[in-house]
Amino acid sequence: MRVLLTGGSGFIGSHVAVALAAAGHEPLIVDDLSNSRGGVVERIRELARMPIPALVADVRDEASVSEFLAAHGRVDAVVHLAGLKAVGESVADPVRYYDVNLSSTLAVLRLMSAHGIDAMVFSSSATVYGSAGTMPLAEDGAVGAGIANPYGRTKYMIEEILRDVCAAEPSFRCTALRYFNPVGAHPSGLLGEDPLGVPNNLMPVVAKVAGGILDSVSIFGTDYPTRDGTGERDYVHVQDLARGHVRALEELAPGFDAVNLGTGEPASVLDVIRAYGDASGREIPYRLNARRPGDLAVAFADVEKAARELGWTAELTLADACRDDWRWRQATAD
Ligand code: UFG
Repeated sequence: MRVLLTGGSGFIGSHVAVALAAAGHEPLIVDDLSNSRGGVVERIRELARMPIPALVADVRDEASVSEFLAAHGRVDAVVHLAGLKAVGESVADPVRYYDVNLSSTLAVLRLMSAHGIDAMVFSSSATVYGSAGTMPLAEDGAVGAGIANPYGRTKYMIEEILRDVCAAEPSFRCTALRYFNPVGAHPSGLLGEDPLGVPNNLMPVVAKVAGGILDSVSIFGTDYPTRDGTGERDYVHVQDLARGHVRALEELAPGFDAVNLGTGEPASVLDVIRAYGDASGREIPYRLNARRPGDLAVAFADVEKAARELGWTAELTLADACRDDWRWRQATAD
């Protein structure tokens, strides 16, 4: 299958590109490199052991992307990962988030229609379940109510757009993959989450404390009704996520579908700090702080649908993710 990856140089996209190549597919990449380190495309090609075509462009530059698609023969499917993803930034600048994430998706849909492509895997998020869900979060549960920020609402809105497209075009095949908390890195140490940005998510913060760049981890909330009082999440290794995209592409069927990608096993903030401390051999100091507004106590996936429909189950552990993340950060330390 020849597959266009929008945002194919990003954290998840880069791992998906390598996994697609390993499964015998042909990835093509469009990415504006706005959130990637230099050289990532070369590293993807090295790991994929193939000359992956890549265009440096914003997907909203439809003329350039159209020319790129026309130059590379028939494309069978799109994995749409391009978009902005910083929760805090989306609260501060909602107009930019709605503009970029929604208009990128509309541009991709127009390009697909112009080039006769009717298959898409969309990079969605467990954030679409909002605050109303019961654990474990299952795909047939309510979505849209109580989403805590504009970033999350863009993911929900895009899912709704894709449902409408599927209703209008019966041959259109689309699966939204609802990621839980993506962590880890490629075991080679060549790909991982961009360590240059200001971290907000837990594991990048913990990693910077392990690396001595930050003094301590601030734990947001110690009075949740959980095993140890700290928030619990479902941390899924990016290599497992990448395999999930390959399976989703291979199983695409007419209509809209949504599938969770998670482990089904909640881990607390203290579990993550302990696991990273073990993986890095470093002490990880932490401070106990107040809850972060908008956070849920617990969020983890019902993983039954992914197993049934995609034959996919997460195989890697939190310890694997910490080990691979630490290896990547050591390899990229300036
Ligand atoms: N946390 C801390 N200290 C920190 C950062 C996080 O204690 O410095 C805690 C949070 O309170 C939470 C857990 O660590 O309990 C995980 O927080 P993250 O910010 O890493 O992740 P979230 O679960 O808040 O959000 C993530 C992604 C979103 C996505 C959502 C889906 O960042 O993009 O999962 O559920 F939408």
